[in-house]
Amino acid sequence: MDFPVFHLDGMGNRWLIALIAILHVLINHGLAVGMMPLVAAMEWYGEKKKDPRWDNLAFQILFVCFLITTTVGALTGVGIWLSVSLVNPYSIGSLIRVFFWAWFTEWLVFITEVCLILAYTLTWKKWSERGGIWKKRHIRLGFALAFFSWVTMAIIVAILGFMMDPGNWLTDHSFWTGVLNPLYLPQLAFRTPLAAAMAGIIAMFLILFFTAKRDAFRNAALRAVGAWTLAFAPFVVVAGWWYYTSVPAAMQGNLGVALATMEFEDWQTKFLQIALFTAVTILVVVQFAISRPHLLPKAALLVPFVAILWMTGHFERVREFIRKPYVIGQYMYANGLRVDDYALLQRDGILKYATYSNPLTGAEKVGLPENLTEAQRSNLLHRIQKGKDVFMDTCSRCHTGQGVNSISGILQKMFGDQEWSTDLTAGTFEFMHYTRPFMPPFPGTKDELVLLGEYLAQLQRSKAVIPGAQSVGITVNPVSAARLAETKRQIKGDAQ
Ligand code: HEC
Repeated sequence: MDFPVFHLDGMGNRWLIALIAILHVLINHGLAVGMMPLVAAMEWYGEKKKDPRWDNLAFQILFVCFLITTTVGALTGVGIWLSVSLVNPYSIGSLIRVFFWAWFTEWLVFITEVCLILAYTLTWKKWSERGGIWKKRHIRLGFALAFFSWVTMAIIVAILGFMMDPGNWLTDHSFWTGVLNPLYLPQLAFRTPLAAAMAGIIAMFLILFFTAKRDAFRNAALRAVGAWTLAFAPFVVVAGWWYYTSVPAAMQGNLGVALATMEFEDWQTKFLQIALFTAVTILVVVQFAISRPHLLPKAALLVPFVAILWMTGHFERVREFIRKPYVIGQYMYANGLRVDDYALLQRDGILKYATYSNPLTGAEKVGLPENLTEAQRSNLLHRIQKGKDVFMDTCSRCHTGQGVNSISGILQKMFGDQEWSTDLTAGTFEFMHYTRPFMPPFPGTKDELVLLGEYLAQLQRSKAVIPGAQSVGITVNPVSAARLAETKRQIKGDAQ
């Protein structure tokens, strides 16, 4: 609670991360990790067959990837950093502490990747004209680029796996136990062929634009890239199965309760069905492309493309689901509070440790009960203010006021138009993590639950949108002001 709370009351904070991250994953897997080896292989094949049409096609596909990966791809990559550090600075802070050297290495690898894609694209024409050893060098450059693209993914997947299930790291805080978490290898094994197959499908789609309809080369190219795609499809299913069977072990730590398990099994079955469906669709369409390429309409290739995007989306969804209520499995809850700090917070209350306060806006004060004396009104506002801080610090990472997964919508569904009195709400919130185990337990005291209830009762009257610190600013929580002054004095003392 040492950072001001960034909050989006419409789309919700989680969607900000999800939109940027999913776009990034699709570009990264489809156009970089999977596509670079395919482009290099095409260039190599053209050189071997002495057929410049392969070379041209490979360059055209590379150019599309070059444009998209160095713009939208790179921006969304930085966008993930920006969005996660805005929405949950605590989790990214913890991850940096564990994975500093992994990210540092990844940064070097990424810079190398960018230099290589620049070099690979910009030297293509010149080195091809020179021919001979230069062409061979250029092809090697392509495979080096493919390798570095894969390594960036291989590093980041370690961190994604860690967030789902840190495994032995929970007792042995070392870098390598963090990297070699239980879900690392299954996930990497799944994403690698997924990226290759995805690239194959995208490449087939592009081939229809870069070749003429009656051109015999179109058929040859579709057939070859089709074979590439088919070669990876079984690995998607086999590694999908491995991942699918590794997840329940991670789940046992995160969500043990029957209801959650049921909901999860639902997701799990769906994930497997979608993986199978995607593999079968790829098989059918690609088979068709191989056997009757001249009859293949552009739209037909959209089917496996959409299927693979859909599967990737679902896969990311399962990944999100099993993590809850944690942002880092069993270590830190999604509200940014560490599991180990709960005992302290539940004893002292979270407001005691909240550095900032989120001032009530005019709209949030609308509809206060009328028959109050000035003193009562001021006292009530004071309590509502505290309740708002409790909401912002403990619920707002997942709930909005009026938008996606809004607390007003939920309370309206639960209690309808009757007054959302603290008797109704505070009691519910105390036990909500038993019935909805994907929510963290309430981290504060019983008094704070009542304050939270009073704020939500006011939200029922005001129907206000809850703005984040980025638009209304913050104030320093008076309780913390004294603590901060003390810390400052100590720092000054130490410095002298
Ligand atoms: C990890 C994210 C997360 C956090 C943090 C969180 N919730 Fe939730 N909450 C959810 C999700 C997801 C749902 C399910 C919504 C649905 O079913 O549509 C939910 C549902 C609820 C429900 C409905 C429960 C039911 O039985 O239907 C209530 C009430 C609720 N949350 C209150 C809160 C309060 C109050 C806080 C803060 C103290 C909070 N939540 C914190 C994610 C979270």
